[in-house]
Amino acid sequence: KELVFSGVQPTGNLHLGNYLGAIKRFVTMQETHDCIYCVVDMHAITVWQDPKELKRQIREVTAAFLAAGIDPKKHIVFNQSQVAQHAELAWVFNCIARMGWANRMTQFKEKAGKDRENASVGLFAYPMLMAADILVYRATHVPVGEDQKQHLELTRDIAQKFNNDFAESIAENGFGDAFFPITEPLIHGPATRVMSLRDGAKKMSKSDPSDYSRINLTDDADTIAQKVRKAKTDPEPLPSEVEGLKTRPEADNLVAIYAALTNTTPEEVLRDHGGSQFSGFKAALVDVAVTKLAPIADEMRRLMADPGHIDAVLADGSDRARVIAAQTMDAVKDIVGFVRSR
Ligand code: TYM
Repeated sequence: KELVFSGVQPTGNLHLGNYLGAIKRFVTMQETHDCIYCVVDMHAITVWQDPKELKRQIREVTAAFLAAGIDPKKHIVFNQSQVAQHAELAWVFNCIARMGWANRMTQFKEKAGKDRENASVGLFAYPMLMAADILVYRATHVPVGEDQKQHLELTRDIAQKFNNDFAESIAENGFGDAFFPITEPLIHGPATRVMSLRDGAKKMSKSDPSDYSRINLTDDADTIAQKVRKAKTDPEPLPSEVEGLKTRPEADNLVAIYAALTNTTPEEVLRDHGGSQFSGFKAALVDVAVTKLAPIADEMRRLMADPGHIDAVLADGSDRARVIAAQTMDAVKDIVGFVRSR
């Protein structure tokens, strides 16, 4: 049976890339699949987080999920730290994955930077926890942005190696010839890699020091308008064919954002706006961005005024997630050969 899982870290500002590359697509997946959406607070602490700020951000990401249209009654919304089986399974995966596999992860290299000796061990082990997030529910599909592709390939490798290493035990315990599914990444649509508004060669990111590089989900209409107006472009008008965007990363990015916000394609956007000057196109982009994002920001503010409600949603989601995760973890213990006391 198909099951969708995905996660978002409660670190820094949620931005348009997180929304278009992930959260907006989470909302769509609800119509066709059972979905589990997780605020990955244990991943967040792989780099230092102020405790008060972490609590606020966990609630804010939850508020963003709900405000964007995720239904926590039909699906599951929870925070990772409240389901202990994520950490338990991650340990088993630490023992399945090879040093060489983890050493190849580009996100670790980027985040650890030059001072690798000073990076937390958790930052290195991050991808094994991510594999555990997904596989503790035996999820089959994971909607993410392009930057998570390598982590999902590692998840598949871990599932495969577990299934191979324990093939005999998996069969003996009645699970046939494979226990974990080989999860499929879903990296679709025009906005799987939204770029910085200041530099078309850099990804839009929570940690960019310039706030003008990104549109935050909580930005008001004036701020969105200012950021789009100041967005870097080149002097040429928009091309009429998508081929014309290949060597123009900033134009390409704005067209992709417009397409994702309006549920169309870059081809369709250029059919309407090809030949336009950026001044005109940017004004149109501000309109669609404000129309789509302002209601989400308003709803987030409304939800954040009642943290008790958000906490109740997370508690309910955690209870339901734990039931599934506990079943998987019991099976994993049997398969690995641990003696179970309950
Ligand atoms: P995180 O919190 O960095 O980002 C959340 C989601 O947003 C996507 N994203 C983008 N998409 C398009 N353009 C961008 N500029 C952009 N920036 C971020 C990310 O690809 C992601 O889908 N490791 C994950 C969190 C995680 C997870 C998981 C995801 C933990 N466990 C299990 C899926 C399944 C992360 O750091 O995402």
